[in-house]
Amino acid sequence: MGKIKKVLAREVLDSRGNPTIEVEVMTDKAMARAIVPSGASTGSHEALELRDDDKKRFGGKGVLKAVENVNKVLGKAITGLSVFNQEKIDQILIEKDGTDNKSKYGANAILGISMAVCRVASIEKKIGLYKYLNEDANLLPTPMMNILNGGVHADSGLDFQEFMIIPVGAENFKRAIQMGAEIFHTLGGILKEKGLKTTVGDEGGYAPTLNGQEEALDLILKAVEKTGYKMEKDILLATDTASTEFFDKKKKVYKLRINGKKEELKGSEMVEYLLNLTKKYPIISIEDGLAEDDFENWKLLKEKSKGKIQIVGDDLFVTNVERLQKGLDENLANSILIKLNQIGTVSETIEAVDMAELNNWTAVISHRSGETEDTFIADLSVGLSTGQIKTGSLSRTDRIAKYNQLIRIEEELDNKAIYAGFGSFYNLN
Ligand code: PGA
Ligand code: ZN
Repeated sequence: MGKIKKVLAREVLDSRGNPTIEVEVMTDKAMARAIVPSGASTGSHEALELRDDDKKRFGGKGVLKAVENVNKVLGKAITGLSVFNQEKIDQILIEKDGTDNKSKYGANAILGISMAVCRVASIEKKIGLYKYLNEDANLLPTPMMNILNGGVHADSGLDFQEFMIIPVGAENFKRAIQMGAEIFHTLGGILKEKGLKTTVGDEGGYAPTLNGQEEALDLILKAVEKTGYKMEKDILLATDTASTEFFDKKKKVYKLRINGKKEELKGSEMVEYLLNLTKKYPIISIEDGLAEDDFENWKLLKEKSKGKIQIVGDDLFVTNVERLQKGLDENLANSILIKLNQIGTVSETIEAVDMAELNNWTAVISHRSGETEDTFIADLSVGLSTGQIKTGSLSRTDRIAKYNQLIRIEEELDNKAIYAGFGSFYNLN
């Protein structure tokens, strides 16, 4: 029962209209498919996303090589194996590739198979994917909702990439989504009144032209209040500064606009700037406050924030246990962002979450800026009981699909469901 009969890949499109890979895994009784997402502000230490580089198709972004690698090589390597043996299958794929960063066959090719295997196994067992990952899972994650987009995800002129609201005070997940959607729409109204743009960026948040981080945060505070919610009691804030994107490696400075003025901040000044923002605004979580290899200043931010702020490593750790181990050894953060395609298999992703939790760090399951209708990460966040998810704003179906899946999971769990809420940020290390 549950033996893999066939593995089939094809090229489809992601939310930016770029090609990505979809993989189907078939057993005698069941079939499941998975689609792999794609980042824009990618870390340089991520596993390799294989693209064709054939400029005649999709500007070089085609994934036909990755598709062929699944259809001709990787699929055959796991045919006949039981879908219930996720770790063994992932190990075979890793060994077959044989490189450190999955560059031979592509992390996108490998991950598509890995996710589809996991999903088809849950279908074989006739249970939800989240339940297949852990039959006792009942913790619904607190969503970090990116309602203002900047950085490389928008042309808003904002250097910080994401400004997020966290409905910590909601009594359940469904209510958290309602709160987020209400605030999102109020913010749209405020922007319109001010004659600012209400078009959205890659992750569905508004992308108005603003003069800097402070103006963005002030607008969000206004929207929360006008909707009838209270900062700190109902809503906390988070930011993904995605600092690698505006770090000048040669000069070792962070180049960003603050209140309309272009500034160049040394690492220690960047740390001060971030800490000052957390004093002025109820920001509980800062992701990638420093560039991916600026270890010295990560350490400084961690020390100076004194366990009061969640310090999340995204490009810093790239869901890689070796990078995470360095972070643990050197006390660089207290949280890891988890993206399946940064590492390339479900098993390695779970390993990174387990390692974080074992060391009393938090783990935040995350989408990519290039997403699809695939809702795997919604189930993953519940299945691994991470208590936190980052999957975009309250618009664009590529983001909403994950929220809707979580609403279904909460309904299925009925009175067993627990919403993480404030609990996500207790005991920050
Ligand atoms: P990316 O953005 O998918 O473009 O990397 C998301 C993030 O940085 O968290
Ligand atoms: Zn990030």
